[in-house]
Amino acid sequence: MCGIVGVLGTHEVAPILVEALKRLEYRGYDSAGIATLNEGKLERRRALGKLVNLSDALVHEPLSGKSGIGHTRWATHGAPSVTNAHPHQAGPVAVVHNGIIENFRELRAELAEHGAQFVSETDTETVALLTQHHMAQGAGPVEAAKQTLARLEGAFALAFLFDGHDDLMIAARKGSPLAIGYGEGEMYVGSDAIALAPLTHQIAYLEEGDCAVITRTSVEVTDRNGALANRAIKSVQIDNTRIDKAGHKHFMAKEIAEQPGVIGAAIGHYLTPEGEINISAQDIDFTQFDRILMVACGTASYACFTAKYWFEQIARLPVEIDVASEFRYREPPIPPRTLAVFVSQSGETADTLAALRYCEGKAARILSVVNVPESSIARESDLALPIYAGVEVGVASTKAFTCQLVVLFALVLKAARDREVISADTFADHISALRGLPATISTALEQNDAMQEAALKLAHARDVLFLGRGQMYPLALEGALKLKEISYIHAEAYASGELKHGPIALVDEHVPVVVMAPRDALFDKTVSNMQEVMARKGKVILISDAKGQAEANDGVWFSIEMPPVPDALAPILYAVPAQLLAYHTAVAKGTDVDQPRNLAKSVTVE
Ligand code: F6R
Repeated sequence: MCGIVGVLGTHEVAPILVEALKRLEYRGYDSAGIATLNEGKLERRRALGKLVNLSDALVHEPLSGKSGIGHTRWATHGAPSVTNAHPHQAGPVAVVHNGIIENFRELRAELAEHGAQFVSETDTETVALLTQHHMAQGAGPVEAAKQTLARLEGAFALAFLFDGHDDLMIAARKGSPLAIGYGEGEMYVGSDAIALAPLTHQIAYLEEGDCAVITRTSVEVTDRNGALANRAIKSVQIDNTRIDKAGHKHFMAKEIAEQPGVIGAAIGHYLTPEGEINISAQDIDFTQFDRILMVACGTASYACFTAKYWFEQIARLPVEIDVASEFRYREPPIPPRTLAVFVSQSGETADTLAALRYCEGKAARILSVVNVPESSIARESDLALPIYAGVEVGVASTKAFTCQLVVLFALVLKAARDREVISADTFADHISALRGLPATISTALEQNDAMQEAALKLAHARDVLFLGRGQMYPLALEGALKLKEISYIHAEAYASGELKHGPIALVDEHVPVVVMAPRDALFDKTVSNMQEVMARKGKVILISDAKGQAEANDGVWFSIEMPPVPDALAPILYAVPAQLLAYHTAVAKGTDVDQPRNLAKSVTVE
């Protein structure tokens, strides 16, 4: 799962490739590289680690040429290293690849029999070597690439460049998205339209099995059957400015602070001034469904899990949730009156996309909740609801999570209304609660210093537990995920009532336990579980409102006070302390907050 870019340009292409890669770095940052055709000869520069290392390398050893391909890598086959970095070259062909070639071992064995020399441990190198092999047998570049593509199993987006062919690039897609950009006498390919935004807004998306033969003035696309195919060129509006940190130390801090604004924007889009939900009956009518299936990965799956509580309690609709990587392989039967909902910030997560495709033709309707309206998941849904969070750069999702929750909550209210299971008064109460949320979140953000103080304590821990009950349980899961992904502290979350069924054995005086407990109907039960922890010397960080603190903060290690919030919306508000605790702990530990090790913003491999 990597980012790829290609340019047949009219200017020096290296800086253009690097700029486009910056916009793709969210797909991985283990290594980066570019290849250009310099007077007809392929030349490469590659560097381990972040893109800035490649930029530095290019200062010392510039690359000339007006045609080039580039890559930012998240390692799958082969450790992050310069030799494993893309582009991979075999004689006259260079290749960049996003995805996984599943039959690469078989291809490697075949190539080895023909005497091929391997220099990397990657699956991608087999693509370059196989194409070289076909060329050595007399095939021209286009034919050789097509013969190679016919042999590949797995998922890929590929771009090829050839020695001596300054006006030729070949791009192919199967399983991983690929966009073609149309410029003035120039042509581009990119993993997404965002990468190409400074170059062009005229974009055509390749479809599954497509192969495109590209020159500066033409694109010829053939489909999976080899027939000529026309892929519509759309004008895509994507902000092409590079996003900055607006005075914050990290993107994550900026994105946490932006939440009142972006949540306000999402609410503005989904609530009418009259206090109705701004999603029409033509878009979706919940009387047509008997159940909901929600599928996503990571943080987005916790948004689904939270929404399950809401859909079931408020709209009286049963919800099944699953993580996308498990869902499809269970081959679950999908009853016909099922609404399938997919939640994804990037809209490109491979497992979520595959789960969506599994539901095509089975579920009554496919709805997605996305931050990128041009993404594959959005394009392949019957209805895509944008979350209006704006670009999220920090790898750890923050504002996208809370905006996902806001949109899902609006959807729940629409479902309750359509199904006539909510009174006018309760509906109006929820609407006014939503409207008040941005201000309440601003108040929660004022607790930043308290969270920082608590984080300084957490930073010394080896293990941390998060507890929550009811709709606060998914939030405990989210708190634990945030902490582990950016601070590298081991953290687990449990439904607080479940603790005594095993995990309480972990509790001793060295284990901080973060308890998410707004003063709601389940508060007393959560507090009982918290007492069980304190009785075993566990160090409790209690996050609750003033009422909850007054009742229960005796003997706790640290308290963080949240403003009061209507019960249903507590998971959205309490996301703020979960995020800030993780953020300040990571800062205290000196980790790379925005680009934590081993991760990528968009997970485009299974
Ligand atoms: C964690 C995080 C990930 C993503 C997950 C799904 O902070 O960001 O767990 O939520 O990889 O990504 P999307 O939402 O792009 O499908």
